[in-house]
Amino acid sequence: MASLSVIGAGYVGLTTAACMADLGHKVVCSDIDRDKISLLNHGQISIVEEGLAELVAKGRESGNLSFVVGAESEVDRAEIVFLCVPTPQRIDGSADMSYIVAAVSSIAPLLKPGCIVVNKSTVPVGSTTVVEATLSRGDILVVSNPEFLREGSAIYDFMHPDRIVIGSDDQGAAIRVASLYSKINAPLVTTDPSSAETIKYASNAFLATKLSFVNAIANLCEAVGADIRDVILGMGYDRRIGFEFLKPGPGWGGSCFPKDTQALVKIAEEGGYDFKLLKGVLSANNEHRDFVAKAICDMARVSSPGPAKVAVLGLTFKANTDDLRESPSIEIALKLAKENKKVVAYDPTITPKILGRLNQVVDQDMNGPAGSIQPELVRLIEAGVELSLDPYAVCDRAHVVAILTEWDEFRWYDYDKIGKSMASRAIFDGRNLLESANLKRLGFNYRGIGR
Ligand code: UDX
Ligand code: UDX
Repeated sequence: MASLSVIGAGYVGLTTAACMADLGHKVVCSDIDRDKISLLNHGQISIVEEGLAELVAKGRESGNLSFVVGAESEVDRAEIVFLCVPTPQRIDGSADMSYIVAAVSSIAPLLKPGCIVVNKSTVPVGSTTVVEATLSRGDILVVSNPEFLREGSAIYDFMHPDRIVIGSDDQGAAIRVASLYSKINAPLVTTDPSSAETIKYASNAFLATKLSFVNAIANLCEAVGADIRDVILGMGYDRRIGFEFLKPGPGWGGSCFPKDTQALVKIAEEGGYDFKLLKGVLSANNEHRDFVAKAICDMARVSSPGPAKVAVLGLTFKANTDDLRESPSIEIALKLAKENKKVVAYDPTITPKILGRLNQVVDQDMNGPAGSIQPELVRLIEAGVELSLDPYAVCDRAHVVAILTEWDEFRWYDYDKIGKSMASRAIFDGRNLLESANLKRLGFNYRGIGR
């Protein structure tokens, strides 16, 4: 069992640390965010991720998992260090490596000889060399081991991966990193670092392409009177296509797909290749969000030629996470507000504490630091979008209800009760969650995606 250091306790780092501890390794997870570490040391986690709180508790109890502020105090004991810090998108679309470089610079003099540094963060092709240069230590090897963790099922994905990818020019280092996963039964792809980094980008970009395609087919279905659900069924049985990642929606988002596809376009550009296909995938996604916002506005106009209220159900970029980064729902809510709709929104992850803190932040100073509040919420408030803790209250006097995240609870609401409180019965079901026949029976003007 190995002694590991995981730098960054975000969605990726915390999952990696907790799962590695569960596999029997001794893991110290660090973060520069004192509040995050303080919470973790009190047995609490600051993100919504199924099973993670329990796994963290199990790791702490077994003594395999502990948390510290800053990696410097503990990294000298590590045999292998995982970098799980953010690589946000810069204005030109490229990935910002400054967090990686800062983290690596701070640990470089402290690492013990023979230690391996693993890039888990999604980093541009060639970053292994950047980390090596920043380390400037001939006695330390750098390996690429990209993550394929979906928020909401990150632990499952870690423990049951479709594959484990390891990129290294040193066979011994690759074997040492691979052995950390020896209890996991999955195909192992060992390759050079640049190929491993490209695998990560190509996988996310391919999935994003699949989604832009299926959303376009959904729009086509509407135009020609076909039903996307049957079309997907007919396509998915073809094993070359499969059923996964074929659900149409209001567009794809999250902390990875948008930045990784943008970054791949940029990486290609720097390599002298104009990745027109991927540019099309990105613009199709933006246009699809416009298309959805317009469809909701059209429904609102039918319900009320004058001022209209839209109730937005769901703000996170998908269900089973509290992550609002690049959420299509947020973008669409902002577009609706720009079209002078009164927008009131509900999401199951918005708690009274978050709302209280948000009001405090907004009252104090609109431009001040938002602390633990996700900036997307501040953007909504600034645009005049109201947030509520009660989904039924959100729908009260609304002209359209727009479901934009696939939270399961939305299926089970009493839509007759909702209809009675609405100004007119209209539902835009951006995730095809509801049975249209039931809604129509209740007198709703119902519109889904591609049906
Ligand atoms: C991030 C990247 O976005 C993703 O591309 C990459 O694959 C893995 O890391 P995520 O875990 O979702 O994904 O990021 P986030 O939730 O923002 O967590 C990063 C954590 O790193 C934060 O808690 C931050 O405080 C911490 N951090 C950042 C450090 O500990 N040290 C730093 O120098 C910078
Ligand atoms: C993604 C990758 O899937 C994962 O391997 C890792 O690299 C991190 O990034 P994540 O961003 O957590 O995971 O979410 P994912 O489940 O991939 O969904 C991304 C977006 O696509 C979401 O907005 C989601 O709603 C949308 N989506 C997904 C659909 O619209 N339809 C689908 O069928 C699947």
